[in-house]
Amino acid sequence: MATAASEFAQARLERRAMSEPFYITTAIAYPNGRPHIGHAYEAIAADVIARFQRAQGRDVRLVTGTDEHGLKMVQTARGQGRDTLEFADEMSGYFRQMCDELSISYDAFVRTTEDRHHQASIALWKAMEANGDLYLDRYEGWYSVRDEAFYDEKELIEGEGGVKLSPQNTPVEWTVEESWFFRLSRYAEPLLKLYADNPDFIRPESRRNEIVRFVEGGLKDLSVSRTSFDWGVPVPGSPGHVMYVWVDALTTYMTGVGFPDDRASYDRFWPADLHLIGKDIVRFHAVYWPAFLMSARLPLPKSLFGHGFLLARGEKMSKSLGNVVDPMELARTYGVDSLRYFLMREVSFGQDGSYSDEAIVTRCNAELANSFGNLAQRTFSMIVKNLDGVVPAAGEAPDDAALLARVAEAAAEAKSRFGDYDFSVGLDAWMAAVFAANAYVDAQAPWALRKTDPDRMAQVLGTLAAAVEQLAVVVEPVVPNAIARLQAYVEEGRAAGRLAAPTPIFPRLELVDTPE
Ligand code: MF3
Repeated sequence: MATAASEFAQARLERRAMSEPFYITTAIAYPNGRPHIGHAYEAIAADVIARFQRAQGRDVRLVTGTDEHGLKMVQTARGQGRDTLEFADEMSGYFRQMCDELSISYDAFVRTTEDRHHQASIALWKAMEANGDLYLDRYEGWYSVRDEAFYDEKELIEGEGGVKLSPQNTPVEWTVEESWFFRLSRYAEPLLKLYADNPDFIRPESRRNEIVRFVEGGLKDLSVSRTSFDWGVPVPGSPGHVMYVWVDALTTYMTGVGFPDDRASYDRFWPADLHLIGKDIVRFHAVYWPAFLMSARLPLPKSLFGHGFLLARGEKMSKSLGNVVDPMELARTYGVDSLRYFLMREVSFGQDGSYSDEAIVTRCNAELANSFGNLAQRTFSMIVKNLDGVVPAAGEAPDDAALLARVAEAAAEAKSRFGDYDFSVGLDAWMAAVFAANAYVDAQAPWALRKTDPDRMAQVLGTLAAAVEQLAVVVEPVVPNAIARLQAYVEEGRAAGRLAAPTPIFPRLELVDTPE
């Protein structure tokens, strides 16, 4: 029987044909605590984009890391009676471990305490200085250690008992110290022009509008060094000053592709195509970062996307509510691919989303185990049982062509949605095609054809195998481990001339009681 090249092999061929670079970053977390589900969410979304772009043939770099400087790290370590670096070493390790356990295909993991990163930050600083944008003065104003951010009096809100809080509801303290300033005020006009010329620079649009309003209100120069502690990148030529943590943190995006010394890599991958970040730190990325780069006369990133927050059963996670979930625990309980699928499918990207164990189990069982998993399982077991495991060519009857056209259409729709970071809608299209394939199995009833029309049965099973493979290629960025197993199974079977008995790729999940 004719066996065409598998859809997987086809996808690989297409991949090799192009190699435009695509550079994506996640924000780098402060490792002052262990990773929570919000960190996992961002890393997963970035990885889905990276895998999707690789599948489109792009030469992808995905960079992540940990943001280890700043007062918050100093204070947290001190509070635990620990040395700051030793504390950062341990905590950074958990973030790397999280990436590894969640199948995040990062190319570089940058720790801001590394020497290569200090060198990159110093190079950026010197370039801003050479442009006349740094001057020494005295900072007098409000600082939030939790946000590692300076705030204007007029931005503050009133908390209980009249205490002043940052707009993010975090404590602020009055700070007076000698500081280097960056002439941010010079950049309001160029920034507004940047947003106007590049409507997709800041996404989603709601975030973009906030930023435009903020910049239109005028920009004040920004304090970019601290003298009251020494945990940071030393300011070149200015003993006693360390860089404001956000200056060095943002530089990570360039360190990760070799700035300043690995010219070949830096030239190939910088500027980044996408900085994926949380919606609370858009200002740093949409205002400060491009201004620093304009000052240093370096190319600006092409876009940034501020995703929403994940709420545990609709509530914000907090240590006092006791609803902080370890994402590695969740992945161990329900499987990495299930967690990834759930987050990408359930949450409309850019909005806040809610999750619970029940929701993960319900969705993954309905869509992965019962729908796609079952489709693959039924198809390959029937091929093994009735055709000795030899995968037939797809049929050419109108029903067969209609199903494959439906699948191709869904694949195109998913591709365009994933390209716009619209994962939940892309997966919707995918799911609709899975339903169509299951409806086709029921309508064609290949088990009944076995006696009456074995040739037709083979056409139906061949059509189904092609549909399953195409559907697998579409969903691979989201559930890479399951699809890798399916692909290995299909390709080994094709190489051996016959498929072995299949095992379900998405086992049914059981709800595990978590202690309240
Ligand atoms: N550590 C910061 C936070 O958690 C994020 C830094 S992202 C980078 O809010 F831009 F600085 F890389």
